[in-house]
Amino acid sequence: MKIAFFDAKKYDTPAFNEYAEMGGVTVKYFETRLNEDTVELAHGFDAVCVFVNDTVNAAVIDRLISFGVKAIALRCAGFNNVDVKHAEGKIAVLRVPAYSPYAVAEHTMALLLTSIRRIHKAYIRSRDFNFSLAGLTGFDLHGKTVGIIGTGRIGRVFAHICEGFGMHILAYDRYPDMSLEKSGSVRYVPLDTLLAESEIISLHCPLTEDTYHIIDEAALAKCRTGVVLLNTSRGALVDAEALLSAIKARRVGAACLDVYEEEGDLFFEDNSGHILEDDTLARLISMPNVIVTSHQAFLTKEALENIAETTIGNLLTLFDTGKCENEVHYNA
Ligand code: NAI
Repeated sequence: MKIAFFDAKKYDTPAFNEYAEMGGVTVKYFETRLNEDTVELAHGFDAVCVFVNDTVNAAVIDRLISFGVKAIALRCAGFNNVDVKHAEGKIAVLRVPAYSPYAVAEHTMALLLTSIRRIHKAYIRSRDFNFSLAGLTGFDLHGKTVGIIGTGRIGRVFAHICEGFGMHILAYDRYPDMSLEKSGSVRYVPLDTLLAESEIISLHCPLTEDTYHIIDEAALAKCRTGVVLLNTSRGALVDAEALLSAIKARRVGAACLDVYEEEGDLFFEDNSGHILEDDTLARLISMPNVIVTSHQAFLTKEALENIAETTIGNLLTLFDTGKCENEVHYNA
């Protein structure tokens, strides 16, 4: 089997080479992203392997099918960048539903602690031998109320981490997991209650038509003044302009963003020598109470190993048996 691997980064190759060799699979790495301009590169391959910012729209899918490509293997959990409806019944779409919920949940807590204890400020100060504590006052997490939107694999791990800090945990999920509530530490509430009562809000639901801009101007208006917003899920869950306005109005106390609505052309790349065209992102990054990481939450050694193992395993299973439990189907 030959796989065309798009948006390849140096950190991807060691684990993929290891599992590809074990499975007798050939992988050709392309640094470019998959989109309508680059799809021709997939000619002659059995499958393409893509990541979060590759564009797998109807036009790309049709070209892949015309080349005889049989599968689109996402090396991530989310699949909002693939036109699954268009692919259904024509080409298999595979994903890695879970590779390390701990990686994402732990990064979320790392961002929260960095933000509220001003570690990002203290680190820069002490490197300049400025040992002043002025402006570094934080607050305890113990006893605070965190609202978790989406209590799937990652949201649940994040809830357990918060439990360890002695926090009160509110949750909102379209499909609540009542066993989580039975454990005693999590209370499911309607979304509006979560927004109104939480001092910290963390997003762990997928990006769908329902959750697009779930945090918009109206939602932010329902939040407590000083709320800390965490988004390590997908950028478009948050209306970035509305967030910026709420920060400027001093209604949002802090924001930690591992994802951003318009991250596609920027994240994962070194743009340090360029002038940033995106004024909203530039303004957000300039804020003392905003921390942005560039879709880094998944990036642990364990996660990379699991991603490679599952992605290669998905393709081998599909090509051997014609089906795979990690196939994504369109649900009308
Ligand atoms: P999951 O599928 O296990 O959990 C998602 C949860 O969201 C489910 O409990 C589901 O019922 C809930 N949900 C679905 N629609 C909802 C709605 N309209 N309102 C409220 N809740 C809703 O997914 P998992 O593994 O926990 O991942 C969550 C998200 O994290 C992924 O969709 C992906 O976007 C993001 N992610 C981000 C990464 C990063 O590096 N920053 C890495 C991996 C995932």
